[in-house]
Amino acid sequence: MGKGSAKSFLLHLHPRLIPEQSAKFSFTFCFGGIAFFLFIIEALSGFLLMLHYQPSVLNAYASIQKITHIYPYGWVIRNIHYWAGQAMVFAVLFHMMRVFWTGSYSDPRQFNWVIGSVCLVLTLLVDFTGYLLIWDDRALWAWTIARNVVEIIPLVGHTMASVIFGPASDFNVALARLYSWHVVILPATLLILTGLHFWKIRKDGGISVPL
Ligand code: HEM
Repeated sequence: MGKGSAKSFLLHLHPRLIPEQSAKFSFTFCFGGIAFFLFIIEALSGFLLMLHYQPSVLNAYASIQKITHIYPYGWVIRNIHYWAGQAMVFAVLFHMMRVFWTGSYSDPRQFNWVIGSVCLVLTLLVDFTGYLLIWDDRALWAWTIARNVVEIIPLVGHTMASVIFGPASDFNVALARLYSWHVVILPATLLILTGLHFWKIRKDGGISVPL
């Protein structure tokens, strides 16, 4: 690394001066920050749950019962994962309302509004797929309804449903598909997009100022 680039890297790490008004808690309520904090909690508690959850028709429900009633502090980890997940949905929604209320979606931040909207959809999808992983009666029927909704899309519905949900004839394959969405694909995409979201905040001149 050259001297110039080392210096600009250090300057980059250095906290940047931001307008006092946009740093005020009563402007952002830190809802975006809270959403990201909850995402980290989800990743950590989810990792611990992964050590015992078994994504197969025979074992999914039973492994969750063991996590809740047998393994030490399993119920604590499961409750943290469940409640932080629900709280994250609310934090993202409140964050979106704040951005709308303060008019911060307008030029030059319109692209970040779009990235944020995709983050909201992903957050709802991770929440939904997590609820299906329990694989009790409710989850099975919710999965069936969701699959049918995709299947009735004209022309591409059947192909899309089998790619997204896996076969309706083999629930073990379907559950493995669901598990990959919940544990890898959706959270990894969310992480990449939140990274882009934060980078864009900086590129758009930092957090907006009150109108
Ligand atoms: C996983 C979801 C999300 C995370 C983690 C996140 C995180 C953040 C953070 C930390 C900020 C800095 C200011 C603040 O905390 O309020 C921010 C700003 C912003 N977010 Fe999000 N966000 C998410 C979803 C959304 C959604 C759903 C929208 C809108 C559809 C959105 C649009 C914006 C915009 C336009 C800004 C700039 C606001 C300003 O300059 O005042 N974000 N986001």
